[in-house]
Amino acid sequence: KKRVVSGVQPTGNIHLGNYLGAIKNWTSLQDTYETLFFIVDLHAITLPYDAQQLSKTTRNTAAIYLACGVDPSKASVFVQSHVRAHVELMWLLSSEARIGRLSRMIQFKEKSRKAGDENVSVALLTYPVLMASDILLYQSDLVPVGEDQTQHLELTRELAERVNNLFGGRKWKKMGGRGGALFKVPEALIPPAGARVMSLTDGLSKMSKSAPSDQSRINLLDPKDVIANKIKRCKTDSFPGMEFDNPNRPECSNLLSIYQLVTGKTKEEVAQECIDMNWGTFKTNLADALIDHLHPIQARYNEITSDATYLDKVLSEGARKAANIADATLNNVYQAMGFLPR
Ligand code: TYM
Repeated sequence: KKRVVSGVQPTGNIHLGNYLGAIKNWTSLQDTYETLFFIVDLHAITLPYDAQQLSKTTRNTAAIYLACGVDPSKASVFVQSHVRAHVELMWLLSSEARIGRLSRMIQFKEKSRKAGDENVSVALLTYPVLMASDILLYQSDLVPVGEDQTQHLELTRELAERVNNLFGGRKWKKMGGRGGALFKVPEALIPPAGARVMSLTDGLSKMSKSAPSDQSRINLLDPKDVIANKIKRCKTDSFPGMEFDNPNRPECSNLLSIYQLVTGKTKEEVAQECIDMNWGTFKTNLADALIDHLHPIQARYNEITSDATYLDKVLSEGARKAANIADATLNNVYQAMGFLPR
């Protein structure tokens, strides 16, 4: 079976972009593939954060995975920091990662600009190396993510190839290993729609957890009236009717895509249905569709979080299964890189 891994940071509110770009697509993969989904708590400390909140947001993010339909009888669900191999492999990979390459990553440049020079941690720079470790440890074939992660996936592939070339194959065999590739070179799986959900208040910037205004995003746990209100107040334009892909109407295209994904209709169906609609009618329909789609997720979330032990069991079982796979890769890399066996 091919293997699929992915994760979300447990920072703040999980929003519609995280859901439509990533989590929603995980659930359709768990029947066909061997899947591992983790909460990347170690990634969440790369910007200033609240230690009092981290364990709570980590648990809540795990609950959201399950509420969205990730099924622990099919997928391994675990917390990144519970599998120590992630940090260990990251160190080994960091010897082959280059500072110049990391400092040119788009997300690093954006986040460090926002944080201000004095506040940029070393971890923010090396963050993609940890992400590469998350992926390569599991010999992953596919990584379902939103479009903003493509550059990180590219770096992951480069690191895998570099380490394979430097230490794999015949050289690894000489060290007593099996030979062949140390890492599978993974591919990003970007959904055809939903890969880049935009802000409700600006159709040209992406929906994000860190945007200062909560009006700019729909959080998965937003109550009905909040969703209705955010849609009512979101940015519109003064063109007649509704249409996809008009570059002068980024908000319109974004909201139609959201409507398409939460109703399960095709793009053509939505384009037809909404072609003569005015903004007022469309917004009412969109708000209703969103509320209908998110309501069962919210109900399951409340169920899962009201059971104190269920989630802990899922997470410890997930970490146990993940560690088995991860340790095997890590041991191979230690061997191939010439470390003294314990
Ligand atoms: P994070 O936590 O920023 O986002 C989690 C997932 O949500 C997707 N996403 C979006 N998709 C569409 N529209 C948006 N507006 C939007 N915003 C976010 C992201 O593309 C991502 O798939 N570095 C990663 C987490 C990570 C990871 C990994 C992912 C760490 N290790 C290993 C896959 C495999 C991140 O910060 O995602």
